[in-house]
Amino acid sequence: MKLASVALFLTLVAFVYARELELAEPCDEDICKAPMCRCSSVDIPGGLAPRDTPQFVTLTFDDAITVSNVPTYRSLLYNRRNRNNCPIGATFFLAHEYTDYILVNELYNRGFEIALHSISHKADQEYWRDASYETLMLEIGDQKRQVAHFANIPINSIHGLRSPFLQMSGNTTYQMMSSAGLTYDLSWPTIEYTDPGLWPYTLHYQSIQDCIIPPCPTASLPGPWIIPMISWSDLQGVPCSMVDTCYYNPGPDNEEGWFNLILKNFERHYLKNRAPFGFYIHEWYVNINPGLHRALIRFLDMINNLNDVFMVNANEVIDWVKNPIPVDQYASRQCKSWTPTQCTQTACNAITANHTEKIYYLNVCTNCPNEYPWLNNPLGE
Ligand SMILES: *[C@@H]1O[C@H](CO)[C@@H](O)[C@H](O)[C@H]1NC(C)=O
Ligand SMILES: *[C@@H]1O[C@H](CO)[C@@H](O)[C@H](O)[C@H]1NC(C)=O
Ligand SMILES: [Zn+2]
Repeated sequence: MKLASVALFLTLVAFVYARELELAEPCDEDICKAPMCRCSSVDIPGGLAPRDTPQFVTLTFDDAITVSNVPTYRSLLYNRRNRNNCPIGATFFLAHEYTDYILVNELYNRGFEIALHSISHKADQEYWRDASYETLMLEIGDQKRQVAHFANIPINSIHGLRSPFLQMSGNTTYQMMSSAGLTYDLSWPTIEYTDPGLWPYTLHYQSIQDCIIPPCPTASLPGPWIIPMISWSDLQGVPCSMVDTCYYNPGPDNEEGWFNLILKNFERHYLKNRAPFGFYIHEWYVNINPGLHRALIRFLDMINNLNDVFMVNANEVIDWVKNPIPVDQYASRQCKSWTPTQCTQTACNAITANHTEKIYYLNVCTNCPNEYPWLNNPLGE
């Protein structure tokens, strides 16, 4: 009886202790070492000189993948190669609603990275700011299973997260990421560490990064990596973390203006510490700005001819930071490989949903679900 109550007491203590997150301490570079740990800093991984460092470019698109935006992805990205003749990468942060999973399968089979951006993408900043661990597991953890299932892609090919509206939920977001087996977050903007730029890092120790959209994590959270969203500077020097939020921009038809804006922001990386250069955008914005569209093609053509610049999937940046090798070695490595998967193309017409009155048209690589997949029922069973 006595022993049992001591055991119970100890169990309770252990339980409470495990739930209580410890405050992160200042980072010690002698302890925090690659591949598992990295202090937040503008230092180049591996102590490389800038000229020996590959300049990574991460082009990302957010939200649903549909028949209306996939033509842009095809014409912009397919059959494009880096200077070392390896296929380029790009990352898609997928929102579930209206997504066509047959097209997700197509993009995956072309070597692009499929990452997570929530099931509901609820248009409510406070919902995401205050989201509990449980809510985030339903929105993001379950989305991982959902995408793998309906697009028939390997679940271990899914590594990344962008929180809707870049609104994280402090420590909770990264606790969820550990549980869900996610490698990196690409939602945290910095306007302070842009010149030189902040390299990716882990949350074992205190982050030096400025907190633009609070709450930001302050606990010690071993596991996930942060790829800081290094802001651009618009025409008036106002920071913008997504290209489509650059307020003072050259205007829809001004190709020359857009090209110069892109180049100026790129050079802040390429000519300095070569922190990964992010080009974060929504397809609709490219579509309504033909000048930007042409400038983007010109920019990609340009960097695809530079032998120290590599357009990659965002998760490849983390792979390199964990194991930094000089650019000449990097360029002559074998290209990334992936295993194409089949898609049994299935059109599920007029499928009803429980969360709304709407009727959906859903394309999947599996059998049709019984109802429209949603929170609490990600596979629509
Ligand atoms: C994160 O965890 C730390 C350590 O327990 C705590 O002090 C801080 O308030 C937490 N932050 C949020 C936003 O919950
Ligand atoms: C959705 O609605 C159908 C029909 O009203 C019901 O049978 C089913 O259990 C509901 N599913 C969930 C997850 O609530
Ligand atoms: Zn979004």
